[in-house]
Amino acid sequence: MDRKTNIMKSILVTGGAGYIGSHVCYALKQQGYLPICFDNFSSGHRWAAKFGPIVEGDLLESQEIERTIEEYKPFSIIHLASFIQVGESVKNPAKYYENNIAGTINLLKAVQKYEIPYLVFSSSAAVYGTPEYTPIDENHPLKPINPYGHTKHITEIILQDWDKAYGLKSVSLRYFNAAGAFPEEGLGEAHEPETHLIPLMIRAAQHQKAIQIFGNDYDTADGTCVRDYIHVLDLANAHLKALDYLVTGGETVCLNLGTEIGVTNLQMVNLIEELFSTKVPYRFLSRREGDPSVLLSSALKAKELLNWQPKYKISDILQHAWQWHSKEIYGE
Ligand code: UFG
Repeated sequence: MDRKTNIMKSILVTGGAGYIGSHVCYALKQQGYLPICFDNFSSGHRWAAKFGPIVEGDLLESQEIERTIEEYKPFSIIHLASFIQVGESVKNPAKYYENNIAGTINLLKAVQKYEIPYLVFSSSAAVYGTPEYTPIDENHPLKPINPYGHTKHITEIILQDWDKAYGLKSVSLRYFNAAGAFPEEGLGEAHEPETHLIPLMIRAAQHQKAIQIFGNDYDTADGTCVRDYIHVLDLANAHLKALDYLVTGGETVCLNLGTEIGVTNLQMVNLIEELFSTKVPYRFLSRREGDPSVLLSSALKAKELLNWQPKYKISDILQHAWQWHSKEIYGE
């Protein structure tokens, strides 16, 4: 079954109103699918859910997800709904285990009941914990260092067991640092509170208010952390490729999604200053708890198995994010 023969086939996207979910829904619609956005709007935005039917529902309410699956009969699930703040997960693990694990179990029970054969899961590089070597490939030990990362790792294990017992085929996509925006479609990052480097650095430049850079004593080229920033549209495209992989008989697998290029926090300052002819005011603070010094992917496996290739460079990511954050009101 290839994508073009799937005209208007519906796909349930949990967390479809979120930052990555909304770009995934856009990409699905572009390819002729009907994305059903299932979201409790605890952090997703109504303005971002505009590519298909919207169901306001919560995975913790099993009848809501069952009813939605019964009504729309999706042939696959893309599961992105989860809480994502690392710091909060350390302070309040109950919230994370309940939402990210119990919610997923409710979803998977419905998937089993309605015999949906495929699922793409939004996992994270947080499953690796502190890197023992870089670039990080999928064989790297899985030792998450916070409850958020544990919930992603546990879900991957649950999905493997669901395959063995019930035959559900899944792809867990381990995102590195999602970034960028799609201003032409009115899509971009709007977290509340915002904790991510690129939006905060762009705001610092646009409002000339200093950003705090956490740590300048890491064992890296300039002492600041290294991250692998991947454009959200490249991530969205990988979900389509993962679907293709599953419908053509692919086995359950976990795959890294990154660009394999590292950027330090100070290099990010320089890139923004050069691209936009501005100053990024910053000051150094001590290290943020739980931050690995380097997160750099090997994405070879995704490239080989999915025939996926990131298209956007860090300069594109910054241009798009800059444009997005220049808007007074999100989603206009
Ligand atoms: N940083 C600052 N100042 C800030 C914010 C961030 O210096 O105000 C630094 C961080 O210390 C880190 C880098 O910028 O060195 C990137 O931080 P982000 O918060 O943007 O992203 P993380 O790498 O911490 O987190 C991302 C995802 C998580 C995921 C993690 C590992 O947001 O969901 O990658 O995959 F768990």
